[in-house]
Amino acid sequence: MTTIIGISGSLRTSSFNAGLLRAAAEAAPGGCAVSIASINDIPLYNGDVEDNEGVPKAVSALKERIVAADGLLMATPEYNNSIPGAFKNAIDWLSRPPEDRFRVFKNLPVGLIGATPGSFGTAFSQYAWQPTLRVLGREAAVGQRGDG
Ligand SMILES: Cc1cc2nc3c(=O)[nH]c(=O)nc-3n(C[C@H](O)[C@H](O)[C@H](O)COP(=O)(O)O)c2cc1C
Repeated sequence: MTTIIGISGSLRTSSFNAGLLRAAAEAAPGGCAVSIASINDIPLYNGDVEDNEGVPKAVSALKERIVAADGLLMATPEYNNSIPGAFKNAIDWLSRPPEDRFRVFKNLPVGLIGATPGSFGTAFSQYAWQPTLRVLGREAAVGQRGDG
């Protein structure tokens, strides 16, 4: 079974992006399961919190779900032609601490989808995600994804 973790970048209960993700999960072919995770419990990134308390539990739990999965499907809203802050914040937390970042993201297949009432289908947001996802996925690794 191929397992995909799906994350919506909207915190809204009636989010179009959360709905799109549910539709993707329903449309997944046999042999593929989309398991939907939430970023709603992830706090704002704060380096002092990381230094003093480490990565929050909600972040660690989501990291392990991503590590255990075969891929990540991100349903991104678009705010002001770019990435919504809450979603970027979640990915930033997931990239911490640096020595763990490659275990989570290196060579991780990531799909980007998005929903908007606007005209361009979150194209600007999806484009804006690319430098972040590119650097997380391929930078020289401390450890390979899947390493113990
Ligand atoms: C601050 C803000 C900026 C927005 N900017 C854009 C935008 O640049 N392009 C767009 O298509 N929609 C934009 N929207 C509208 C969102 O696409 C819309 O609110 C959408 O419903 C958000 O996704 P959600 O339904 O998953 O919460 C913006 C909404 C907000 C709140």
